[in-house]
Amino acid sequence: MDEAEFFTRLSEPVWPQLEKSLERLVRQRLDGCPVAYLLGYKEFWGLPFRVNRSVLIPRPETELVVEKILTLPLSPEPLILDIGTGSGNIAVSLAKELPLARIMATDISKRALRLAAENARLNQVDNVRFILSNLFKAFEQSQMSFDLIVSNPPYVAQDDWQKLDRSVRDFEPKKALLAGQDGLRFIRRLVRKASQFLQPAGFLVMEIGAGQAEEVVRLLETGWSHVEIDNDYAGFPRVVSAQRKSDLA
Ligand SMILES: C[S@@+](CC[C@H](N)C(=O)[O-])C[C@H]1O[C@@H](n2cnc3c(N)ncnc32)[C@H](O)[C@@H]1O
Repeated sequence: MDEAEFFTRLSEPVWPQLEKSLERLVRQRLDGCPVAYLLGYKEFWGLPFRVNRSVLIPRPETELVVEKILTLPLSPEPLILDIGTGSGNIAVSLAKELPLARIMATDISKRALRLAAENARLNQVDNVRFILSNLFKAFEQSQMSFDLIVSNPPYVAQDDWQKLDRSVRDFEPKKALLAGQDGLRFIRRLVRKASQFLQPAGFLVMEIGAGQAEEVVRLLETGWSHVEIDNDYAGFPRVVSAQRKSDLA
């Protein structure tokens, strides 16, 4: 229930059954389980998203990725690819904002895709298709050419794993977070491959880790123009966008 309902019903007795399940929830919370997993729900971009332990809980800073995309000069009916869609938060939010867009959302996790498809239904969008794929694999044989490729990829470096909050480390999916020794395993592959699947002058937008901007800008030195970095609410550089150089073959 929301806060207002909570206070109006404060004097109501709690059924023993409900008391038991509340106690169970409190115990799980004390064990570190994030509230979003206990509720099975998280709001993102003002929309409701179902979540479970097969997907990362959508973060407020990822809304900056959506915000950035909405500033780009995209065609009126853009073809968009979201890589590593998780709960579908980016793809579904874009689908709402850009109803004429056609969006393909991929993930390597079947369970994540099932939930993402549920979230598309929950939010009544029908312009997203969900596809099982290891990065660009499902598109290798196709001639698909996107106007925009977006990704919030795994970007945690191996050595930073232990520094993560216990509620993240113990409850959120490892394969949504970990990205090799330096945390750039996926970002490097995305930068290297994205041009092949982008229109000339198409856009690549990625969320990156707090200390990764310099290295990511370096990766984008060849073949990309208009490289821009946006900061999160704490002032850390977290969203990178770039445009494919249109003179590339
Ligand atoms: C950081 S989470 C982002 C989830 C969601 N897009 C968000 O913004 O909250 C990264 C996602 O990438 C997926 N993933 C990991 N490796 C992948 C791969 N090789 N190909 C496609 N998706 C992958 C994970 O399953 C996870 O859902």
